[in-house]
Amino acid sequence: MKRSEAIYLDHASGTTLLPEVKSCISDWLESGMTNPSSIHQEGRRSAAGLDEARTIIAKVLGCKPSEILFTSGGTEANNLAILGGVDVLKEKGRHIITCATEHPSVLESYKSLEKSGFQITYLKCDSNGDVDPEAFRASITEDTILASFMWVNNETGLVHPVETLAQIANDYEVKFHCDVVQAFGHFPINMENSGIDSLALSGHKLGAPAGIGALYVRKGHAISRTSFGGSQEQNVRAGTQNHMGAKALAIAMDYHLAHIDTLHKKYSDLLDYLQGHLQAMPGIQVNRQGKQYSPNILSCSFKHVDGEALFIRLDMKNIAVSNGAACSSGSQAPSHVLTALGLDENTAQASLRISMGIKTTKQEIDDFCRELEQIVTSIYRDSE
Ligand SMILES: Cc1ncc(COP(=O)(O)O)c(C=O)c1O
Repeated sequence: MKRSEAIYLDHASGTTLLPEVKSCISDWLESGMTNPSSIHQEGRRSAAGLDEARTIIAKVLGCKPSEILFTSGGTEANNLAILGGVDVLKEKGRHIITCATEHPSVLESYKSLEKSGFQITYLKCDSNGDVDPEAFRASITEDTILASFMWVNNETGLVHPVETLAQIANDYEVKFHCDVVQAFGHFPINMENSGIDSLALSGHKLGAPAGIGALYVRKGHAISRTSFGGSQEQNVRAGTQNHMGAKALAIAMDYHLAHIDTLHKKYSDLLDYLQGHLQAMPGIQVNRQGKQYSPNILSCSFKHVDGEALFIRLDMKNIAVSNGAACSSGSQAPSHVLTALGLDENTAQASLRISMGIKTTKQEIDDFCRELEQIVTSIYRDSE
């Protein structure tokens, strides 16, 4: 029997709009997008909406509204925190510490800094992708100006010991940046006493539309502008603000904070159920062991399976999951995260990231597991 709907288990890429966000967007569509920098009443109305969004986000994160800058998403927030932060810090030193499993928006920022003479240490990770806080401490030198570690890895769901890492950075007066794009909504994140100097967020992982994100920058931690034009966002991020998106992001963040425990329980139960089914499949390896993981992301790999054949067959069944190839569009190179965990290229390519969202049901997990088992069994059979 052909299903009429997709099985969508790729919520870590982009998730369904929250109903509260949809109604906020339709209100804005009715009233029109005026420019918050305009001095007339209509512009001031948009500016007030932007201020309100900033205030809500600040409350959710336990910081001041002036510490929130709106961006176009997580990528821009990471770029701005790193490139803008380093531009101010460069007189103090030229050494930065991170790890190899960060998101490309972080790693590519560092690559560009390497070209300008900065020295980047990519800490080795263990077979789960975790970093050792003591190895981090040992890699800090007098020249170290910045460290950045993501809270939750977007491909494996691994949780890094961010609080410990930030504390170590603080001990040595090294600035600390954290990408919480996949962590927000799953773990309590509060900036008070966090030791974190900057933090990147993205809307479309949370039920807001794509094209909005935010950067938290601790008061006193200066960053330079990386875009030029108007003096919006405290003279750091030029360009007319997406105030509709900002409001949607605020609503989505507020929603996630209010429902964090219920959602955590829902995802944990579904994930246990999913993992139980997956473990019975032929040739499977679940990339999740002995550490703390986000409850909504599970990575698994199949031995001796052609990754391309696997994804073609999943797509033919209208099943949406991520593959073990790099997440930049169109790229088929094996994922840098999975290869850093020690997976060989073939196994990395025959890997799935299954990620759940608010709408995911047990029925969907059942349907997915049934289809996946049939596909994998048929691939093994065809290759005999
Ligand atoms: C951990 C992480 N950081 C940054 C980003 C980039 O965010 P955006 O798509 O909003 O630019 C993503 C997107 O998948 C991500 O998973």
